Amino acid sequence: MDKKKIVVASGNAHKIKEIAAMLPDYEIVGYKQFADFEIEETGKTFYDNALIKAKSVAERLNLPALADDSGLCVNALNGAPGIYSARYAGDGIDEHNNELLLKNMKGVTDRRAKFVCCMVYYDVNGEILSATGEVKGEILTERQGKNGFGYDPIFYSYELAKPMGKASAEEKNSVSHRHRALTEIIKKIEEYKKK
Ligand code: IMP
Repeated sequence: MDKKKIVVASGNAHKIKEIAAMLPDYEIVGYKQFADFEIEETGKTFYDNALIKAKSVAERLNLPALADDSGLCVNALNGAPGIYSARYAGDGIDEHNNELLLKNMKGVTDRRAKFVCCMVYYDVNGEILSATGEVKGEILTERQGKNGFGYDPIFYSYELAKPMGKASAEEKNSVSHRHRALTEIIKKIEEYKKK
């Protein structure tokens, strides 16, 4: 029997692979295999942006779609950079984003922060499922470690009791906001498919 298709509303091959590994009963494909269009993220929350992505892909391709949106939220900065995490410093370069965040956090004593990931599944009949994952920690005062990407080198994970930049891929996966949101949404998709 042919596997049911779920389209991932992302152009990131790493994310598509990660999702495929966790959903072996489905055929997981990136949306760019069908049509090469860009999706404008005009939402004000992680949920809004994930919904915009999943809905536009599902409607355009007439197939169920899964999308995520994630970022870093810093308490002392009222949740910034949040949905603007990827382009916080304006040019989309991780190193520049880290530099700006370290500068904005200079002398700030409350350094609590969290990575957040929201996943949305949008079916062609308009059914919406969603899940959020978080990992809590603090913003370091300087870069530590070279592992991971994005803000990992300046984030200290409470659960791992070490800088994310010094965590192995396995360690990061065990606490990752994306992995947590994905585990949760997969449970919801499986329950929904049984109905
Ligand atoms: P995206 O929505 O997954 O593309 O993530 C948006 C931005 O949030 C990325 O460009 C990173 O700056 C930041 N980000 C998301 N997840 C992580 C993570 O696991 N580690 C470090 N930075 C992250």
